[in-house]
Amino acid sequence: MAALPLSLVVLTAGVLIKAYDTSSASGSSRLPRAEIPAQAQFIDQKAFNVLPTVLPPSQSNATTFFIPPGYDSASLTEKPFHIYDEEFYDVIGTNPTLTLLANAGTNPLFHEATTWYPPTDEMFFVQNAGAPAAGTGLNKSAIILKIALSEAAAVSSQRNATGLVNVQTVDSSPLVVNPNGGTNYRGQIVFAAEGQGDNVPSELILMNPREPYNTTVLVNNYFGRQFSSLNDVAVNPRNKDLYFTDTLYGYLQDFRPAPGLRNQVYRYNDVTGAVTAVADDFTLPNGLTFSPDGLYAYVTDTGANQGFWGWNQSNPSSIYRYNVQEDGTWDNRKLFAYVDSGVPDGVHCDSKGNVYAGCGDGIQVWNPSGKLIGKIYLGEGSANFNFAGDGRMVICAEQNLYYVTLAASGGGYIEA
Ligand SMILES: *[C@@H]1O[C@H](CO)[C@@H](O)[C@H](O)[C@H]1NC(C)=O
Ligand SMILES: *[C@@H]1O[C@H](CO)[C@@H](O)[C@H](O)[C@H]1NC(C)=O
Ligand SMILES: *[C@@H]1O[C@H](CO)[C@@H](O)[C@H](O)[C@H]1NC(C)=O
Ligand SMILES: *[C@@H]1O[C@H](CO)[C@@H](O)[C@H](O)[C@H]1NC(C)=O
Ligand SMILES: *[C@@H]1O[C@H](CO)[C@@H](O)[C@H](O)[C@H]1NC(C)=O
Repeated sequence: MAALPLSLVVLTAGVLIKAYDTSSASGSSRLPRAEIPAQAQFIDQKAFNVLPTVLPPSQSNATTFFIPPGYDSASLTEKPFHIYDEEFYDVIGTNPTLTLLANAGTNPLFHEATTWYPPTDEMFFVQNAGAPAAGTGLNKSAIILKIALSEAAAVSSQRNATGLVNVQTVDSSPLVVNPNGGTNYRGQIVFAAEGQGDNVPSELILMNPREPYNTTVLVNNYFGRQFSSLNDVAVNPRNKDLYFTDTLYGYLQDFRPAPGLRNQVYRYNDVTGAVTAVADDFTLPNGLTFSPDGLYAYVTDTGANQGFWGWNQSNPSSIYRYNVQEDGTWDNRKLFAYVDSGVPDGVHCDSKGNVYAGCGDGIQVWNPSGKLIGKIYLGEGSANFNFAGDGRMVICAEQNLYYVTLAASGGGYIEA
């Protein structure tokens, strides 16, 4: 990506000219525009470089919300589109909206595998497997759900539209046991399913997104050995292979055995059946996506969040980026971002290569150089979310489900 950050606005002979400058520290990028969208606000990072009191880790840490001086949690959620850099104006446009579509009480129904199915214009997603309030784990599988995006669009002018959109259960058959990640694949949806106990292995499973929601297992082992708990899956836009993460959350949430394999990223070629490891050296690899041109791979490492074992703040809350070579192998791993709130879980790119991740306080957005340009602030965590083509996004935030309208478009729907 050769895109340079837009960071200077030069006034020449009364005409506003946008100049490009590689320096992200230019003064003008701190300044709010006169016309800030109604649901947006500018957050001046310079204003909190020096705080009157800086609390110790026992009080200010990955699980707490940072409230900059002059704000409170109500004012941060009142205008949820937080502009950290001018480049975010192009992402949100002139009138972004955030709508609460559904609230599930204490049940974490809105978790991950947020996948748009264009032929019916529906968004699919899954319940959190293993969370105590879900009653899943070893007892029963997490369920698959969906909404019609036309119903969400109809209420997008409201901030709170709970009860106005029908959240439907999808009865996959045979059952996808504890689905977690998902994406479009071969005109259908492929799920990374975590499995259950010793006897239901973790699998990649293809599901027909229309009734009767029939399923076919693509992969259920690595040379006869069980995966630990597959977490996320993505298609590389160039070679159309499936890449997927294997990690420990099934074990750390007490519904899968101790690991028999290393935590890593694999690649699956549907023609030859080859399953190969492409990246390791993670604590807990999690979300996975590619840039729209397929040249970069992004993997989140949520090692700081150890499930039922609690938090270890010195572990990664990080996004790593790799170059994807012509032959589909990865190299040049680099630290792309370390998030300030919670862990970065689900990750997706927009059509311009900006990177979005579900974090402890909502969706955070970086430009391709890893500069934080803005947040869609929820005041609660999001494990996953996704674009539905142009200008629309659905955010899963466990008990809450949100709909967003904005200027950005999704990174592409791949007809693999
Ligand atoms: C993080 O801060 C919160 C709130 O102050 C506190 O309850 C929690 O124990 C802290 N976590 C750690 C690991 O210190
Ligand atoms: C599973 O069922 C057992 C026995 O009824 C119960 O003790 C346990 O809390 C349940 N687990 C979850 C995650 O609901
Ligand atoms: C949204 O509206 C519902 C129904 O009126 C209400 O019960 C709920 O408290 C509201 N939620 C928020 C976050 O305002
Ligand atoms: C579902 O069944 C149809 C009709 O038999 C078949 O064409 C399709 O491949 C099946 N899809 C999956 C994912 O099993
Ligand atoms: C946290 O993780 C680090 C690095 O993985 C490890 O050295 C340390 O022992 C862990 N701390 C705790 C309290 O588990």
